[in-house]
Amino acid sequence: MTKYDELKTTIAGVEFKNPFIVGVGPPTKNAEKIIKIAKGGWAGATTKTIIIEPTKDPSPRMAARAVDGHLFAMENIELLTTFPMSDWEKWIKRIKAEAPSDFVLIASIMGTPDLETWDEPLKVSQEAGADMIELNVSCPHGSPEHYMGAYIGQDPDLTARVTKHVKRDAKVPVIVKFTPNVTDIKPIAKAANEAGADAFTLANTHGPVIMGVDIERAEPIPSVRGFSSPGGMSGPAVKPIVLKLIAETLQVVPDAQVFGLGGVVSWYDAMEYMMIGARAVESVTGVIWYGTGIIENLIDGTLEFLKSHNYSSVQDVIGKAFSRLKAHSDLSFEKWASAWVDPEKCIACSRCIVACRDSGEGALYVDTENMVVRIDIEKCGGCGICQYVCPTGAIRMVAKEEAEKMEKEFEVSPISVRMQRYYSKLYEGIRPCYPPIL
Ligand SMILES: Cc1cc2nc3c(=O)[nH]c(=O)nc-3n(C[C@H](O)[C@H](O)[C@H](O)COP(=O)(O)O)c2cc1C
Repeated sequence: MTKYDELKTTIAGVEFKNPFIVGVGPPTKNAEKIIKIAKGGWAGATTKTIIIEPTKDPSPRMAARAVDGHLFAMENIELLTTFPMSDWEKWIKRIKAEAPSDFVLIASIMGTPDLETWDEPLKVSQEAGADMIELNVSCPHGSPEHYMGAYIGQDPDLTARVTKHVKRDAKVPVIVKFTPNVTDIKPIAKAANEAGADAFTLANTHGPVIMGVDIERAEPIPSVRGFSSPGGMSGPAVKPIVLKLIAETLQVVPDAQVFGLGGVVSWYDAMEYMMIGARAVESVTGVIWYGTGIIENLIDGTLEFLKSHNYSSVQDVIGKAFSRLKAHSDLSFEKWASAWVDPEKCIACSRCIVACRDSGEGALYVDTENMVVRIDIEKCGGCGICQYVCPTGAIRMVAKEEAEKMEKEFEVSPISVRMQRYYSKLYEGIRPCYPPIL
């Protein structure tokens, strides 16, 4: 696998050949799967959570939701590893022997507030050769009722106690994996940092949630012989929450070394995480849905983006959007922006017109002569939603003067040409990217 210097990153002094790691979950449930990940070009992987007493899983244990045919959220009621520590001891050694030498293996471990329960998972993992240790103080289902997971991670003092205890014997960097299910992440980030955490993973699954109800059977999903139990939510739906949590962590721990995790299915998601301040990015649900081969999209898309935007490496983009966050009251309240419909991308489907008619100012209309949507710039209230309901990525928000200038230069191809262009793009293959980049 080719190596690219521009993709290198470091977290807590550990070098990653690229910023892409498979996070904890089914794709990292055993040695065989992790070796495949390592040989496939990922820079690292985090083991399924290792614990003294392995857990049992119900079936089925995953359920997902889609909108417009695109999966956007998943719930799982899976627990931790189902294998004993003796297996992990062998597997970690095997992974270190068979994976490329620059592959970073992170061991995820879990214990209770009884600090000694962390000792054996730590000892076994690091003596077998794990390069980093991740503390799972964040599972939202199945663990909190046993005083583990999010029970610990929701409490700054408990998080600090566990971190300090593990740091005492750790010979490799220690990552604390946060739960997003908190009112305020800042005291927890501060406490973990002061207790000596070397890095942070944001975040574990959200909730617990109820993913939905099978209304034919009147059963919540996933239905385990007719019954369900709330579980952790993951996938693209959680990314906006995690982006905010990373920003808040960086506000209180400015040099925090952060792994961004939640909803990464394409290079675009990864770039968003890095721009907000993550130094590397992990994916679990993306790998479950689309396979370990998404590494190609992550690497190729990132390289292409860096090149086309004249960034010399991912280091140039890390944190670039962080300084663009402000208090709401400090934003501009000028009426400066208007929607602009790129006529060459518009297929006159009118979804924008409906949104603008019923929630905006009714500024969009069909130019029937050209079969294209156009905008009344003066009328546009600048809310911005039309660009997201547009299925072809034809609409963007620009300064009103710019919209007026482009309106004067208006020219458009026949609708048949635009439709054909749109459909040929659709058939280029699965495009898991949500943002309008068609
Ligand atoms: C089926 C499944 C099992 C998971 N098991 C674990 C686990 O054992 N330990 C852990 O720390 N996180 C676990 N996670 C959480 C993921 O590591 C990750 O934090 C979360 O799914 C958000 O990332 P994603 O949207 O890329 O999936 C699991 C997630 C899924 C979907």
